[in-house]
Amino acid sequence: MRNILLHIHPAKIPEASLRFNRTFGLGGMAALLVVIQFITGILLRFYYTPSPAGAYDSIIFLKNQVFFGQFIRNIHYWSGVFLLMIAFLHFLRVFFTGAYREIRKSNWLYGLGLLLLVVLLNFTGYLLPWDQLAYWAITVSTNIIGYLPLVGDTLRTMIVGGKELNAGTLQTFYTFHTAVLPFLLLFLVLYHFWRVRKSGGILIPETKEETRMVAVNPNLVFKEFIIALALLAMLFLFSALFNAPLLGKANPAYSMNPTKAPWYFAGVQELLMHFHPLFASFIIPAGVTVFLAWLPFLKFSEPPNGLWFVSEKGKQSAKSTAVFAILVTLSGILINEYVMNFEMIIRGVPPFISNGIIPLLILVGMMAGFYRFYLRKFRLSKEELVQAIFVFIIVAFIVLTIIGIFFRGKDMGLTL
Ligand code: HEM
Repeated sequence: MRNILLHIHPAKIPEASLRFNRTFGLGGMAALLVVIQFITGILLRFYYTPSPAGAYDSIIFLKNQVFFGQFIRNIHYWSGVFLLMIAFLHFLRVFFTGAYREIRKSNWLYGLGLLLLVVLLNFTGYLLPWDQLAYWAITVSTNIIGYLPLVGDTLRTMIVGGKELNAGTLQTFYTFHTAVLPFLLLFLVLYHFWRVRKSGGILIPETKEETRMVAVNPNLVFKEFIIALALLAMLFLFSALFNAPLLGKANPAYSMNPTKAPWYFAGVQELLMHFHPLFASFIIPAGVTVFLAWLPFLKFSEPPNGLWFVSEKGKQSAKSTAVFAILVTLSGILINEYVMNFEMIIRGVPPFISNGIIPLLILVGMMAGFYRFYLRKFRLSKEELVQAIFVFIIVAFIVLTIIGIFFRGKDMGLTL
């Protein structure tokens, strides 16, 4: 047991890295959830039938006839949801402590790969129950893929294996969900861990005093154990109280209203309500992805100091940017829904200009104005400015996602 621990952790670590508010244990929690996903996923595979005729019935059988079947399904479902949320929070903590730069930059990129894999695992798993919810959520999501320029249609047909979801789609999703993606995830998680050690452990702020080293066992191991127990308790409680969703068997002839994408794509679906599909499904998401992957390659004058939000000024600017992002996103949604629509006002130009380029330029112009004002008034460093832009993007994405999940009703109209 000691040897296994020493493969994961070094024998000694700086005392400062033990502080809970350094990492909040999020990376470790994500790792534990990956293990739980593997165990419960294997158990589910004993009963699951990957065909349109058998999938739904096999879930019903599991629910009603198998000892603890419903509970295991709930744990698998909720640990998938938790994993996505916790990996996202871990990504935020890494960014806001500046640990995405210099020696850690490759691990930031592997981390982005991990986040993508976790989204894909959730997405491919979503279809497997083959109920109405799954069928129509995956239909709208794959339709979003169809909007990609040039390759969209071909890519959609390749993923779906035809015009509509069919037995081939289920087989493809099943294979990716249970064979391809889990192994990529496992490999990347292990590599990610190894990179953490190669970078000399987690980033801690420098102090004038000498770094005190303490033994990992029991100092860190004990804390990890407590966090793991608390997470397991919460997961089990959640799984006992809330069942994983399951509606009636998929019926391709009867669509759901509203037809919503899975919750983690609700932000993109919400963007589609306001921007031309080329912008909502490709240009904006691709721009954000390039921005995130490019972050560690930006040149800064100082090495990362490991402090939360860079500095006190960084914290203040992050807070006001968050408020600005909430106001801009909410007012943009409301104005577009109830007051005006560029496509109707500027007639006679192609929609990708009236509903794409023009609103995007207005948004970028507003952001540029805000940051010019900010830079002048508060004299932000480059790192603080990059952080403010990051905050804007993340907060806008969260607001779009919340609106998409909770405030869209019949025919995707806004509702309370
Ligand atoms: C399945 C998903 C993931 C797992 C299991 C995981 C696991 C871990 C663990 C255990 C650590 C050690 C410190 C800590 O607990 O925070 C860590 C550090 C790190 N992770 Fe992740 N991680 C995942 C996803 C991500 C993502 C999405 C990113 C960012 C895009 C990322 C970037 C990093 C970086 C740069 C470090 C070093 C942080 C530092 O030195 O302070 N990871 N990860």
